[in-house]
Amino acid sequence: MRTIAFLNQKGGVGKTTVAVNVAVGLTRLGRRVVAADLDPQGHMTRSFGVEPEGATLYELMKGQRTLAETLLEVEGVRLAPASMELSGVDTEFAAQPGKERLVANALAAVPDADACILDCPPNLGLLTVNALAAADSIVIPVQAEYLALAGLGALMDTVEAARSINAGLSVLGIVLTRYNHRKRLCREVAGAIRSHFPELIFETRIRESVALAEAPGFGQSIFAYSPRSAGALDFLGLSREVDARGFA
Ligand SMILES: Nc1ncnc2c1ncn2[C@@H]1O[C@H](COP(=O)(O)OP(=O)(O)OP(=O)(O)O)[C@@H](O)[C@H]1O
Ligand SMILES: [Mg+2]
Repeated sequence: MRTIAFLNQKGGVGKTTVAVNVAVGLTRLGRRVVAADLDPQGHMTRSFGVEPEGATLYELMKGQRTLAETLLEVEGVRLAPASMELSGVDTEFAAQPGKERLVANALAAVPDADACILDCPPNLGLLTVNALAAADSIVIPVQAEYLALAGLGALMDTVEAARSINAGLSVLGIVLTRYNHRKRLCREVAGAIRSHFPELIFETRIRESVALAEAPGFGQSIFAYSPRSAGALDFLGLSREVDARGFA
């Protein structure tokens, strides 16, 4: 199983949208996918039409539930949902030895999975550290806007530091989100990111689209909500690239 964390400490850049739709996109390519919501906001959970409560990743991390009790099947993906209790883990587990590996240990035993997709919160707290410890690689969603490049530099430093707990961690790629070709700033920032990270940037850009903004409100991926939309096309393209790089 390859574990991929969708990570950017900046908020609202499209992490959850990309994680949800790549998770479902990979199932369309025949991969068996597990998705874990590491964000106390529970946006990935809600995006799959599931209420963030009950048997969740939190109980799994505490060893109070088994994997079989936690995973729910939605759109062909097995989901470990989040709940608000996750917001307390930084203090709750502060003194616990091995606290960085709780998620890795909890998900290590998932049977029959090719890919494990982790949606991270917009900070560098214990849940993100757990994602960095559990992942084989990370995908970085970025919005083509002012200061995006500075944020990317900081994120690359974070990944470098995380190699002290996970030596094999790599960056699978950078994906531009909410892309609007008509905006000059978008084109310029995209060009700057491409010239700094030519081997990392994915060819596929996720365009700004109404259907992508609407789908989570219906608890559906873009593939279920609007299968012929530009968003579905973009995410099929991105999923193919992730598949080619992540499972080669
Ligand atoms: N390509 C897109 N087109 C239109 N809206 C989008 C697109 N991608 C994301 N959005 C919308 O932008 C908002 C932020 O996206 P998302 O929740 O995926 O970001 P995030 O990085 O996970 O945020 P957070 O840091 O809070 O976890 C959401 O309302 C989402 O529906
Ligand atoms: Mg999110």
